Amino acid sequence: MLQNGLGSLMLEESKNAKRIVDLFCGAGAVIKFAAEKTDRSILAFDLQNYSIVLAKSILNRISRLKSEEIEKEWLLRAGESRKQAFLWQKAQKLSTKIDMRSARSYVERCRELCEEESDVGPIWNAYGGYYFSPEQALTFDHLLSELPENGNERIACQAAMIVAAMRCVASPGHTAQPLQPTRTAKKFIIESWKRDPIEVCKNTLKEVCEQHAQTLGEAYVSDAIEEAKKLKSSDLVFVDPPYTGVQYSRFYHVLETLARGNCGTVTGVGRYPSLAERPQSAFSNAGQSEEALKKLLANLAQSGPTVIFTFPEGGCSNGLSGEIVLQEAKEYFLIDKKVVKGKFSTLGGNKDKREPRLDSSELILLMRPK
Ligand SMILES: C[S@@+](CC[C@H](N)C(=O)[O-])C[C@H]1O[C@@H](n2cnc3c(N)ncnc32)[C@H](O)[C@@H]1O
Repeated sequence: MLQNGLGSLMLEESKNAKRIVDLFCGAGAVIKFAAEKTDRSILAFDLQNYSIVLAKSILNRISRLKSEEIEKEWLLRAGESRKQAFLWQKAQKLSTKIDMRSARSYVERCRELCEEESDVGPIWNAYGGYYFSPEQALTFDHLLSELPENGNERIACQAAMIVAAMRCVASPGHTAQPLQPTRTAKKFIIESWKRDPIEVCKNTLKEVCEQHAQTLGEAYVSDAIEEAKKLKSSDLVFVDPPYTGVQYSRFYHVLETLARGNCGTVTGVGRYPSLAERPQSAFSNAGQSEEALKKLLANLAQSGPTVIFTFPEGGCSNGLSGEIVLQEAKEYFLIDKKVVKGKFSTLGGNKDKREPRLDSSELILLMRPK
């Protein structure tokens, strides 16, 4: 949508605003666009830690970082420490004899190996043999334990690691369920598991170090409904809330564990941490979403900023639709409506049962307080 009307509207409206606020910043596409293309300070929120790490990796800096120095400090040290690990030797031994015919039993042996207790970090026991190979899982744990102590370098490395995990993970797009070693999927597991997170991080670290805002901004884990009360009439607020009836934290728990650096016991086919460790949004609960929308709109109206609200036009699985948003918002705002054609992610669909992305009509609503 940034190429399809949203980007130009944001640039136009930002001219009249002192600050840009993204209340549901997610993977940070809109933040990155606004931070690079405007000189307005950006304030971002999300319930998920991993989103805030990605946001800070752009908003906390107004110049590039030198990736070569960080690479030496962090990636070399992680590479050295994994080599010394007893579990690394075991994991390497296991992966030397793998071929496609024995892929299923290889995956099973990997799962068994990753049941051995590791005190390096959370990834080995939680996700090794499922989302990641034993070698990858141990590497992510060493990357976590060798993160720089403070400041922007730490954030850049955390962001690089999160993006690297998305590129290595053996799951269909999101981390709701790992791929299983079936006849058709096993080749994708082996392919994903071959990627060395340290090599992938070299690239993602370069990408992250290059990106920065024009003006310093801030990002926090917080609830958009509460934050909406505290905004200013001179803000331009971007609102892109959930449209699915399934919690985002079900799809992003692997990234969340990497952002937090810890997780408790995991269960189920998706290796989910407990509900207490997975942020719950009223917008992703069909019984609560309409009330959440009403509160959000009332709080926005009370603080008085200009709002750009995007939402799929038709009915969504959380019970909301663009039409409902429009009806509720009319009470408080004067609204310009634009409809654009797009594709939206079904979060976790694969071609067998559900398409991963569907055609949709998206509303872009420009809302000014009455
Ligand atoms: C549709 S996505 C946003 C995508 C984002 N615009 C991007 O560019 O990636 C919705 C996001 O809202 C977050 N979220 C859900 N409920 C929230 C709440 N009450 N407060 C803040 N963030 C919330 C989810 O964690 C998810 O990241």
